[in-house]
Amino acid sequence: MSPAKGDALLPSTTTEAAPTKKSPSAGLRLVKGLLVGIALWTCLNAAGLAPVPGCVSDGLLRDYKAEEQCPQVSAVTPDKNNALWTALGETFSTDAFKTRAVEWLGGAVRVPTPSFDKMGPVGEDPRWEVFGPFHDYLLKAFPLVHSTLEVTKVNTWGSVYAWKGSDADLKPLLLAAHQDVVPVNPDTVDKWTHPPFSGHFDGERIWGRGSSDDKSGLIAILSTIESLLESNFQPARGVVLTFGFDEETSGLHGAASLSKHLLETYGENAFLLLVDEGGGFAQEYDGVVATPAVAEKGYIDVRVDVTSPGGHSSVPPSHTTIGILSQLLVHYEANPYEPRLSRGTPMYWKSQCLAAHVPGVPHKLRKALKKAVKSDHALREAQKELFKEKSFRALVGTTQAIDLISGGVKTNALPEEAWAVVNHRIATDSSVDAVKEQDTALLKTLAQEFNLSYTAFGSQITGKDGTAYGTLTLTDAWGTALEPAPISPIDAPEYALLSGTIKATYNAHRSLKEDNSIVIAPGIMSGNTDTRYYWALTEHIYRYNHHNSGNGTALSNGVHTINESIDADAFLEMIRFFSTLILNADEYTA
Ligand SMILES: *[C@@H]1O[C@H](CO)[C@@H](O)[C@H](O)[C@H]1NC(C)=O
Ligand SMILES: *[C@@H]1O[C@H](CO)[C@@H](O)[C@H](O)[C@H]1NC(C)=O
Ligand SMILES: [Zn+2]
Repeated sequence: MSPAKGDALLPSTTTEAAPTKKSPSAGLRLVKGLLVGIALWTCLNAAGLAPVPGCVSDGLLRDYKAEEQCPQVSAVTPDKNNALWTALGETFSTDAFKTRAVEWLGGAVRVPTPSFDKMGPVGEDPRWEVFGPFHDYLLKAFPLVHSTLEVTKVNTWGSVYAWKGSDADLKPLLLAAHQDVVPVNPDTVDKWTHPPFSGHFDGERIWGRGSSDDKSGLIAILSTIESLLESNFQPARGVVLTFGFDEETSGLHGAASLSKHLLETYGENAFLLLVDEGGGFAQEYDGVVATPAVAEKGYIDVRVDVTSPGGHSSVPPSHTTIGILSQLLVHYEANPYEPRLSRGTPMYWKSQCLAAHVPGVPHKLRKALKKAVKSDHALREAQKELFKEKSFRALVGTTQAIDLISGGVKTNALPEEAWAVVNHRIATDSSVDAVKEQDTALLKTLAQEFNLSYTAFGSQITGKDGTAYGTLTLTDAWGTALEPAPISPIDAPEYALLSGTIKATYNAHRSLKEDNSIVIAPGIMSGNTDTRYYWALTEHIYRYNHHNSGNGTALSNGVHTINESIDADAFLEMIRFFSTLILNADEYTA
């Protein structure tokens, strides 16, 4: 192994050796030289010549400044509206408010709003009509919101709520949530502790589909605004809400229409920042880390289609269409994408936050991460440690999973066609084209071996002469390829505003005084939220639910499965978060 560039860093010697550079004093130079010599010595093996693999001068650690690698802000609380914020916080802690909040969310869960794959247009597919009763429910549950905010229905069931601010020069805050839920598999209904659309409150948790994803977000926003209106708060900065209705089936009818409406009404870059569902906070090592997602991975489903001559299976070729497809798929799995942790990516920033601020990070990992700021070798060491966590590894790299397969119609007929779909989640530092290229190259040799005319994403790759035995075709299966989202900058004051709001909420909810009880670190989404349609509205998009997301997995709390539920106290904390955010944003000046 040859030492990577950064490993050879011995800065003082190289610069001081330069003849034009004047050294400050000979004595100092001697001391420095000695130190470097010692550092160098410990990096040589017994033979005294070859560098020890993995040996990095500890000089690298001296330059490490936690605040540079992962700046943390203090809790941010409203100034002008501090009394209101405090009073609201007290209200949120009362049993009376808890009863109201539980009823607000439970009532929303009791109106089922499932969205299904491949639904027809609104107005044609009758399954959309479930949103009528849901809108009726919201109207009844939040009277002040509906009498004060301007409500626009977009593509019938999409809702935009505009709360005008007194200062039209201030960019409004944009809050997003989705009204739909994933359907409940009828076979699993009796496995739920409480029926999936009961909205049952057992004294601790609110149960049912949507209680967490994402009616908790939607109802927390409306509960917050209803409460602010009851306190006669009038914002200086506008607040706009956008509620899609098919997020769980990619937002084609909901958020896609809403984004058009918002762009036409407000224009590009018209919003201060956007908060939608996403990461939460969780125990990591011995600390609590909040991870608002500042990016989303890209996406492409690659359809691998093989055709070859059919016929009676009594005289079979050595490889049928299905056999060939199978070999292609085996080849896929034998050649996964190599994930690579790179500086300048959110997952690298996240790991630097762990190293800089989170107690209990293993010494070896912390040291490697600190050195990784400059040393490529240390970065690979850190990567090795971090990738032991499968979910971290999957978030960093482009992933692939063969999720669909089809072929053959009859046991005595050779299949003329067989196909499979490979689902890719694209690394934030990669692209749709890079994935297309890699997949295309991957199958080229086998295509030639099996004498297939090979077309990938519209380009003829091999078998141009038209004499091939069969065909291999790669396509974007549903035409839904999506680039990784633009990364919301973390050195922006908007990110600081969000971070300070998270801290203030977390501390106030637990009556904590110290400022370091929660660390804010950027995260990413491996799936896509409605924000995929909102890129043009603001550069500052944060996918974040202020609730405990368990051990870092988005699927805790029964989200998308049996027993979905939310702790009532966690839901109250979400309300506290949105009220803190709205009041903080109201006083925020860039
Ligand atoms: C649902 O919750 C009950 C306990 O309330 C538990 O016994 C059951 O295993 C859970 N089901 C699933 C699938 O998690
Ligand atoms: C490919 O298949 C075609 C059609 O069966 C055949 O004519 C041709 O000789 C084959 N080429 C090779 C290299 O096997
Ligand atoms: Zn959701």
